[in-house]
Amino acid sequence: MKEIFLLAIESSCDETAAAVVKNGREVLSNVIYSQIALHTEFGGVVPEIASRKHIEKINQVIEQALADASVGLKDIDAIAVTYGPGLVGALLVGVSEAKAISFATGKPLIGVHHIEGHICANFIENKELEPPFVCLVASGGHSHLVVVKDYGEYELIGRTRDDAAGEAFDKVARAIGLGYPGGPKIDREAKEGNPDAVCFPRAKVAGSAYDFSFSGLKSAVLNYLNSCKMKGEAVNTADVAASFQKAVVEVLVEHSIAAVKEYGYDKFAIAGGVASNSALREAFGVACKKAGIAFYRPSPVFCTDNAAMIGVAGYYEYKKGVRHGFDLNAVPNLSL
Ligand code: KG4
Ligand code: ZN
Repeated sequence: MKEIFLLAIESSCDETAAAVVKNGREVLSNVIYSQIALHTEFGGVVPEIASRKHIEKINQVIEQALADASVGLKDIDAIAVTYGPGLVGALLVGVSEAKAISFATGKPLIGVHHIEGHICANFIENKELEPPFVCLVASGGHSHLVVVKDYGEYELIGRTRDDAAGEAFDKVARAIGLGYPGGPKIDREAKEGNPDAVCFPRAKVAGSAYDFSFSGLKSAVLNYLNSCKMKGEAVNTADVAASFQKAVVEVLVEHSIAAVKEYGYDKFAIAGGVASNSALREAFGVACKKAGIAFYRPSPVFCTDNAAMIGVAGYYEYKKGVRHGFDLNAVPNLSL
């Protein structure tokens, strides 16, 4: 069988990333330039700064990915690029770059959905994993429960009605003074705290068993902080972090396990930045074992934004014959 090499590019938010992926599941290189330090002083991602930094770094990141994989552009069979969802200016940098390389080399261009990439991150280290399965995608912009029916075939069965899980982590982290990026900081802080110290609400969405809502939880944390302040009581940051994290994790686990059982699948995977959360990984491990469900999760480096996952998703699109023209554009609100 002919070997297929994909060059993948990801620039939807604040990571400039490129990777080379062989035959869909073998990651030959995975280069990520994270802009986190640049955005930290602003307390979140500044879209204009993100776009400018992507432009500055993208060629270097791609050259490094090719060098790390010991391949040249001549060895590449196709170029996969994230074209949505994400920040429009940031996406445009990757899309323009991919189009330019495709035009210059004559190699096919494949636009990839960012969330599809996150889901496909599970195929990198779990060589035996095949659809169908249920996947929870929890990132900074999305909290989706998805049935992966086949490669590239998805059914969205649940979503957040307001804030995404990662967004809630980021907002609560800011409120308790941990700063940006919130997820990893709360993860670390929570290890020192008591998850049962404060009982925060577990929101249910009436009539939608698999939908999520995190804005009420965020408000409950803000109210708690405010009432402590009014009473002149000191806030135990670690306890608040641990209690908030437990509330998020419990809801994600409960809804996901119910969905896997209800839909009759025996495999479950997690994806997206929040999937790197240590308490979440542990809780899902325990819950899946108890329910007799096989549990899959990418290593943390493949949970947060990277281009390897885009190369995997791109490979399955490539195999299906998907090719994009030079009219491929960034689609900031692309749906799954
Ligand atoms: O998937 P991702 O890298 O980018 C998007 O597609 O949004 O996800 C970023 C989100 C951020 O909200 C970040 O705070 C969260 O993932 N995150 C975490 C952890 N690491 C990243 N949330 C909880 N615990 C973590 N360890
Ligand atoms: Zn992402």
